[in-house]
Amino acid sequence: MKILSTVNEVRSAVKAWKKEGKTVGLVPTMGFLHEGHISLIKRAVEENDHVVVSIFVNPTQFGPNEDFEAYPRDLEMDAKMCEEAGADIIFHPEASEMYPENFSSFVNMTGLTDALCGKSRPIHFQGVCTVVSKLFNIIPADNAYFGEKDAQQLAIIKRMVKDLNFDITIKGCPIVRESDGLAKSSRNTYLNAEERQAALVLSKAVNCGKEMVAAGEKDACTILTAMKDIINAEPLARIDYVEMVDMNTMKNIDTVSGDVLCAMAVFVGKTRLIDNFIVLED
Ligand code: PAF
Repeated sequence: MKILSTVNEVRSAVKAWKKEGKTVGLVPTMGFLHEGHISLIKRAVEENDHVVVSIFVNPTQFGPNEDFEAYPRDLEMDAKMCEEAGADIIFHPEASEMYPENFSSFVNMTGLTDALCGKSRPIHFQGVCTVVSKLFNIIPADNAYFGEKDAQQLAIIKRMVKDLNFDITIKGCPIVRESDGLAKSSRNTYLNAEERQAALVLSKAVNCGKEMVAAGEKDACTILTAMKDIINAEPLARIDYVEMVDMNTMKNIDTVSGDVLCAMAVFVGKTRLIDNFIVLED
């Protein structure tokens, strides 16, 4: 497995594979990999001849008071995990390689980006769309893999690929959880022991919502109230949002019908965690 840091190097390597008729899978990440990322890499390895994992803590998707500097980084551990999972290349550029002096072009979306995380993180999805577009242009892959934990991000990237005619297939992969239910996240590392325990309110609320839907409850307000009650009962937790939206528009719904995303962001101490469940129309 190679670790490449320039656009030219990774582009040439991928173009050489494409010339031989090989298929290529891309797994974009910000590193500090966990089993959620590894499930994406393993799926990419199964479905493609070659796999590139990008590891880049993208400064443009962090707001001024967010955790860009503190975001955990460990390239050595990431490289070991990527190699074991069967990746061929890690693309690990410097910020100056991705955003050289005078960089001034950004990818913006309206609608889907305004809701949920977009409300509390106003520039986040512009940064995500910009860096993901750049990665798709740098690495001409056939398939790209994203986790369903970031369900809004996944919907936005699918829409961007359709709207801007990127020649790539987006594959969503299921949330991977710790044995006690907490969704895997690089940010879980910020939690102390007490917060780690408190963070279980997210998956408990998700399970409660799922069970209510499975039992036939259709009223979004009733479901959301029950979920919020679980979170509000935990003194270390503070709700950013808990909402039910139409998957295609990200607009709030009153009644569960069609494809629905029930998503939440909750601060546990200072750490903002997300979780969700999806209800698909039969
Ligand atoms: O989901 C992430 O880790 C990031 O938002 C992504 C897609 C790698 C873009 O920086």
